[in-house]
Amino acid sequence: MPALAKYNVQVTTGDFPHAGTLDKISIILFGTKGESNKTTLFNLGKMLYPGTTCSFQVPCYTDLGDILLIRLFKEKHVFFPSDDWFCSNVLVKDHTGKRFQFPCYQWIVENGRFDLIEGKGTFFADVENNLQIKHCQNRLEAHRKNLRWTTFAEGIPRCVDIQDPNQLPAELRFSFTKNIELGFTFATAVTELKLKGLTDMCEPWENLDDLSHVFCFKKTYLSEYTHHHWTEDSFFGYQYLNGCNPIIIQKCIQIPKNFPVTNSMVSQFLNGGSLDKEIKARNIFLVDYKLLDNVPPNVIDGVQQYLPAPLCLLYKDKQDQLLPIAIQLKQKSGPENPIFLPSDLKYDWLLAKTYVRSADFNYHQLVSHLLRTHLMAEVFCMATYRQLPSIHPLFKLLVNHMRYTLQINIMARNILLAKDGIFDKAASTGGGGFVVILQRALDSLTYSSLCLPENIKARGMENIPNYYYRDDGIQLWKIINRYVKKFITFYYKKDKKVKDDQELQRWIKEIFTEGFLGKTSTGIPQSFSTLQQLIGFVTMVIFTCSAQHAAVNSGQFDFYGWMPNGPSTMTRPPPTNKGRTTMPDLLQSMSDVKNTCRAMSAVWLLSRQSSDFVMLGHSSSIYSTEEKPLGFLEEFREDLKNLASEIRKRNKGKQIPYNYLLPDEIESSVAI
Ligand code: FE2
Repeated sequence: MPALAKYNVQVTTGDFPHAGTLDKISIILFGTKGESNKTTLFNLGKMLYPGTTCSFQVPCYTDLGDILLIRLFKEKHVFFPSDDWFCSNVLVKDHTGKRFQFPCYQWIVENGRFDLIEGKGTFFADVENNLQIKHCQNRLEAHRKNLRWTTFAEGIPRCVDIQDPNQLPAELRFSFTKNIELGFTFATAVTELKLKGLTDMCEPWENLDDLSHVFCFKKTYLSEYTHHHWTEDSFFGYQYLNGCNPIIIQKCIQIPKNFPVTNSMVSQFLNGGSLDKEIKARNIFLVDYKLLDNVPPNVIDGVQQYLPAPLCLLYKDKQDQLLPIAIQLKQKSGPENPIFLPSDLKYDWLLAKTYVRSADFNYHQLVSHLLRTHLMAEVFCMATYRQLPSIHPLFKLLVNHMRYTLQINIMARNILLAKDGIFDKAASTGGGGFVVILQRALDSLTYSSLCLPENIKARGMENIPNYYYRDDGIQLWKIINRYVKKFITFYYKKDKKVKDDQELQRWIKEIFTEGFLGKTSTGIPQSFSTLQQLIGFVTMVIFTCSAQHAAVNSGQFDFYGWMPNGPSTMTRPPPTNKGRTTMPDLLQSMSDVKNTCRAMSAVWLLSRQSSDFVMLGHSSSIYSTEEKPLGFLEEFREDLKNLASEIRKRNKGKQIPYNYLLPDEIESSVAI
């Protein structure tokens, strides 16, 4: 019998090395009116090449109606090894020209069958076809089985119960390219240090020249700048606005009781003003590392390490420079805990600032970077894969912001946080201290502090000039919010739809209970009842996974590549008096040779951009196939492009350009 209907099937393979396959590929189409026979698309002697779209005909004896689902079969040839295939997308066209898209964007590694559902965004409750219902249920069940929650340490956000990244479902694993590159980068960094015999040296640095020879060919413009300017007060202050940790500084409304700075101590640095007057004029700022107070410091290779919990007062002068004017290295004030001033002897002041930078390194890595971006992103990713079917509009919106997050966090737990990992070997917060800090930080973490506009307001940082992290971040927040609003209202229309969406309600409930451990004090919603609530929360999720992570991740080598600007540990207790510090004291107080090398290898590795980097607004996978949402994405990209040119204009001629929130430098997910 001649075929009544022919379906044109276009199969697109991923555009990167090894994405193609030699295996036999067949297909069955399932439509509203029936199904096709199993039809072989590809057989022995042919290959699906990377980056190609191949077209095939699938003949049918009946009209299948709208195509709802396709079933792909991958079978290895006898005597040939199985060949993994990265299928990007399958497009089916019927004889009238009607198009049905089947986004895949994942590795098909197993031999056997593999179902793909039609890409139109819809809610599970609205799905009528049994095949589609079953497909969604099976996928969610598989994700819930493969991605179980576990407790890494009590009191911190829960995480995925997988220790070996190879156990992750294929769609969540690193690409071949990224695997190779990451291994190569780490290996070369360590080899270089080994060759110099540095990773085994338990000695303090003898002079700063020795330090400049480490990683001598791994430099950036800013790591060099840091090397030459790290002792300057203005550079110290600048980093609180535009360095790796731009979220700890706050306006000082009142001098803390445990930091008894007086007017007579600091008036000489206030351009003739008084402390009270400058506080009222909103020119005084405070950084307080109280979260680090009494955290048991690490012992590395039998040597006691020290973790200060300093307070630092800063002044915005008439030239708009932010300058430190007083530093106290421990929380409890007293005669053995002097307040250091810029007028102290050169090395007293520099040593005090170095202790602050060491506290900042640890606070930044654990609180601002690990907890507030990596661990948050993991929670959002887990809830998304476990609770939202792939047809769900929110899954389609978020999936590109979840790329590689589980794998990088598993690797961070294995390489950085595990017993004898980099933290234990190189940081004062290793040996268990980091868990205490993460617990305290989660206790005080709030939903509003994750929302940049509220965060800026709560810290009183709305008006300070040259705060590029704030300026660029707020623009990005608005752009992301505009995109999210268009996307969400296209699918939800009314508050009632939000309230009635069971998958969505389970998603936010899981984030609240597993990520924020059911702490109502965080202000994280336990359910959504309005569109506005949903749009706000999703904006925060995308901002955290992309822009916020870029702001705290990308500058690590720039600022820490020169160790004295951010020692991962201090090997002597904070000084209890003034007037005695010499250059050798400073060198002997900082991280020793091997600890420096270990920390710098990690910092180098984590600041690298990989070749399969996907920038914000672009996607390695287009799950949304409908015209309108695709149009919103285009507008989103246009907004980001315009912002990029504004930022470039602003940066022109600046000695330190602020590039971390340039939209084309922002990765769309926490992937490194
Ligand atoms: Fe990171």
